[in-house]
Amino acid sequence: MMNSLTIRRPDDWHLHLRDGAMLAGVLPETTRHFARAIVMPNLIPPVVTSQDAAAYRERILAALPAGADFTPLMTLYLTEETDPADVAAAHASGLITAVKLYPAGATTNSASGVTDFDKVRGVLERMAEIGCPLCVHGEVVDPEIDIFDREAVFIDRVLDPIRRATPGLRVVMEHLTTADGVQYVRDSDGGLGATITTHHLIITRNHLLVGGIKPHYYCLPVAKRARHRDALVGAATGGDARFFLGTDSAPHTDPAKESACGCAGIFSSTNTLSCLAEVFEREGALDRLEAFASLNGPAFYSLPPNEETITLTKGLPVAYPETIETGAGPVTVFDPGFPLHWAVDE
Ligand code: NCD
Ligand code: ZN
Repeated sequence: MMNSLTIRRPDDWHLHLRDGAMLAGVLPETTRHFARAIVMPNLIPPVVTSQDAAAYRERILAALPAGADFTPLMTLYLTEETDPADVAAAHASGLITAVKLYPAGATTNSASGVTDFDKVRGVLERMAEIGCPLCVHGEVVDPEIDIFDREAVFIDRVLDPIRRATPGLRVVMEHLTTADGVQYVRDSDGGLGATITTHHLIITRNHLLVGGIKPHYYCLPVAKRARHRDALVGAATGGDARFFLGTDSAPHTDPAKESACGCAGIFSSTNTLSCLAEVFEREGALDRLEAFASLNGPAFYSLPPNEETITLTKGLPVAYPETIETGAGPVTVFDPGFPLHWAVDE
């Protein structure tokens, strides 16, 4: 039996850091273990221009805990007004790593997202030319479509047509939640990757809804039935390099979650590695945790993997705080619902 696991330092390929007091409060929870993160641009107002991204990057760097070794990988929020030349310049200078597509209204702070996909065709074509990846929130917003079907329908109605119309565009399907999504990635012939969150490897919609509504398990895309969760576990632990970790750790204060109209988002930065080790161990796949958390993401983004390592040790269950205190208010840490025996050596 393995009691110790050393892996290259991981990266988080989908993270919400927010701004101001929340940023200051949650950033150390990521920098403790992760070397880099793709930082989501859905601030209010969103990060839409290279100027916005440069300013946000400075605010993140200014909020870093002393001694932290962390690189924020910035993204631009795609709107129908996005200027292809601005994207190209920001990508060429290394300021941004990717562009994020939110269908308008799909999730938290997505009002400025895309409604008419023809209006972003020029940007997408330019991105394909320069090799700038598109990160996609893959859910349709059609009110006729059931929320549990929105990812599967998005693949057919939006994603597949975009990929066919824009050959060479590198696409990341963010926070995959369905067996349909897993299959779509497996069937693709290149240029397509997918992030999987910690929580979607663990919870199903039962966690959210059985025995009372549990707002801290509410996120978008919403957790699906067990068969989908199991397909995600198979993808993450199966060694296919197209699947990699993006926690989608998305902090909201407890009052904003525990409300008659609670915000979507699960905060998991604090205990993600312990949760993942538990999931991978159960699958007999601890030897593949490094690929999922530390190797496949850099390979997709054509970045070198981190040189430093971290070591996880197995022992008595680790006690994580239930909430972390931020200047914006308390934020509940993801509860996997089982004891966590693996801890990152500090
Ligand atoms: C994210 C947020 O809060 O910004 N929420 C979530 O449930 N994942 C937005 C997103 O990634 O959809
Ligand atoms: Zn997200």
